[in-house]
Amino acid sequence: MSIAELDQTARSILIENDQGGYTVPTKGLYPYQWNWDSVFVALGFATFDQDRAWREIEMLFEGQWHDGMVPHILFRKDDPSYFPGPSVWGTSGGQIPSSGHSQPPVAATVIRDLVEADTSGRSEDRAAALFPNLMAWHRWFLAYRDPEGEGLLAVIHPWESGRDNLPDWDDALRAVEVKDIGPYERKDTSHVDPAMRPHKEDYDRYLSIMAACRKVGWDPAEVARTCPFFVADPGVTFIFLRACRDLLVLAERLGKDTDADEIRGWITRLERGAKILWQDNLQAHVALDRRSGKHTNGISSASFLALYAGLADQQTLTALCGHFDRISDKVRYLMPSYDPDHESYEPLRYWRGPVWAMINYMIARGFAEIGDGVRADKLRRDTASLIETNGFAEYFSPETGAGAGGGTFSWTAAIWLTWASPTRVKQAA
Ligand code: DGY
Repeated sequence: MSIAELDQTARSILIENDQGGYTVPTKGLYPYQWNWDSVFVALGFATFDQDRAWREIEMLFEGQWHDGMVPHILFRKDDPSYFPGPSVWGTSGGQIPSSGHSQPPVAATVIRDLVEADTSGRSEDRAAALFPNLMAWHRWFLAYRDPEGEGLLAVIHPWESGRDNLPDWDDALRAVEVKDIGPYERKDTSHVDPAMRPHKEDYDRYLSIMAACRKVGWDPAEVARTCPFFVADPGVTFIFLRACRDLLVLAERLGKDTDADEIRGWITRLERGAKILWQDNLQAHVALDRRSGKHTNGISSASFLALYAGLADQQTLTALCGHFDRISDKVRYLMPSYDPDHESYEPLRYWRGPVWAMINYMIARGFAEIGDGVRADKLRRDTASLIETNGFAEYFSPETGAGAGGGTFSWTAAIWLTWASPTRVKQAA
């Protein structure tokens, strides 16, 4: 396919997956609105339909809970092709049936991007309308995922990290007692090869965590206090820190001085907290199980998001460039979701090794922002070549480039349109 045909296919995927203002990640496997999927999708729509890009994010915020949380899935209609659906979650926090936890908060960053890319000034009004929602969501994260105020955010479920079966969660997940789940039937493995998905033992625990949270009525303070899974995640923490910096720019632009002061306090707190995730022996920021007090022992693609978060001190920079080059020598396509030198690495199993386009986009942005165009471009070229050769898959093998998981995937199409496509590079030049 030519580049022009790929651009057209990417646009068609977004249009095909559009459900009338919000977009499903892919039909069948993920038939609802997912939080961070939708926000990345907005970037793709923005390349050809600004209004539709805003609508995507506005519809996501329609599902915001009264306490400020923006759920990871909005179940606008029942779809038997997905499990676990709304009745399993048993939530009642907002206007739209939803899951009970959140997902990486990329919205403030993308909203800032949309505002800055629009010279008509119309986007500013839409950003202003969403600003209080963003503040409420960010406050919620700090109150209930960092209850001690240490500046690092925990996830209460592997799905809250967006990186479901990452080896980082293994030990904490094994410590979750399997209970209150009854018999259940997975649907994901009827859409996708089970070898590319989490194991049944993982699902037993995913559901046990949900059962424990249901027991406390999804009350966020009780969840933070009692949830059997509570792991500080460099992915969510760095994405959130980046989002806080972008929210601050929006606050200043919109003249929200009191909010801007509050956000500056958050940034200081998070910059301090990030240090707790640093492990000298690994020369990287890694996850920390808040229940056992143990750090994990592997480097994930999220470790590279330190730069995206604006944490580019010399030690971090030197270490990340070293890891980048080592991993680059080891696999054909960057960036594997888990260190290929780690024993738990699996090149085709979801988040245990495969490459994800939107993670590459964020890592590259971090490198570009510190002036390392070479590493940023390597990530872009690898992403482009994976898509050119293997289509708009959910994720890809870092070794062979084979596409895996769901097909005609919305955020892969969106990332192609907004960043990876050579058309985009030409426009930016
Ligand atoms: C799933 O169902 O696999 C999703 O990733 C949960 O968010």
